[in-house]
Amino acid sequence: MKKYIKKLSKFLGVKESLRNVTYKGTGFAVRNKNISFMQDADFVDAWNYSLSRNKEGWKNNVPDFRWQAHLACFAAKHGLTLEGDFVEFGVHTALLSSTICKYLNFEKENKKFYLFDTYEGIPISKNMTNSEIKIAEHHNNHTYFDCYHLVKETFSKYENVEMVKGMLPKSLEDVEIKKIAYVSIDLNNAQYEKDVIESIWDKITPSAMIVIDDYAYKGHEDQYAMWNAFAQSKSKMIYTVPTGQGILIK
Ligand SMILES: C[S@@+](CC[C@H](N)C(=O)[O-])C[C@H]1O[C@@H](n2cnc3c(N)ncnc32)[C@H](O)[C@@H]1O
Repeated sequence: MKKYIKKLSKFLGVKESLRNVTYKGTGFAVRNKNISFMQDADFVDAWNYSLSRNKEGWKNNVPDFRWQAHLACFAAKHGLTLEGDFVEFGVHTALLSSTICKYLNFEKENKKFYLFDTYEGIPISKNMTNSEIKIAEHHNNHTYFDCYHLVKETFSKYENVEMVKGMLPKSLEDVEIKKIAYVSIDLNNAQYEKDVIESIWDKITPSAMIVIDDYAYKGHEDQYAMWNAFAQSKSKMIYTVPTGQGILIK
């Protein structure tokens, strides 16, 4: 049967690159890979919870970010073995952090998860480049809205999750975080992300992972250049994930 499908698709001119695609995610696809993690019962539960809580945030069109969420869960689970709390910069309606909390039963952990966002979009500042302003305005007009209460409800059963509402990096002053065991950063802006990572780097526990959401996305080259320069200044390198994310290990 397999041989027949192969021959047929060759005959029909189906491109070699499209044959045997096991999974097509948002912006990437894989062939001949074992993707059992997507059927793992805990992961399925966690992702479904996140999907149900993110419908409004994505106007009923939630992107398939299961692989991205898998990476976030992996980095966060590693964080459970380290000293320190979890932090996410750029939350929107919490696609990643709600998956993590559900997947790890985070309510049972003796750690806090700080969620930083304005909860109403990317602040436009005079230091932004024209392309950054364009990206920010596009997202603000099409995706972001006042979602604070929606996210509050998502985490209502998690007493150890704290939403920090305000503009970064200034809002970092609103909470006292001593050590950090997991970082997710997704502000869609190089300068804000630079300000944040420079402020928190010394608090990150060695071997903790920093998940950089937009790292290898086309159109986000300012962030790519900034993160590479930052990593180099710490004698580190960033792993490029096919999802578009980057992983930096302290
Ligand atoms: C792409 S979304 C984050 C999505 C999120 N990681 C998830 O899992 O769904 C980017 C978020 O960053 C926030 N943001 C961008 N710049 C910010 C800043 N300087 N201060 C606070 N929040 C900011 C926006 O409000 C927006 O909600």
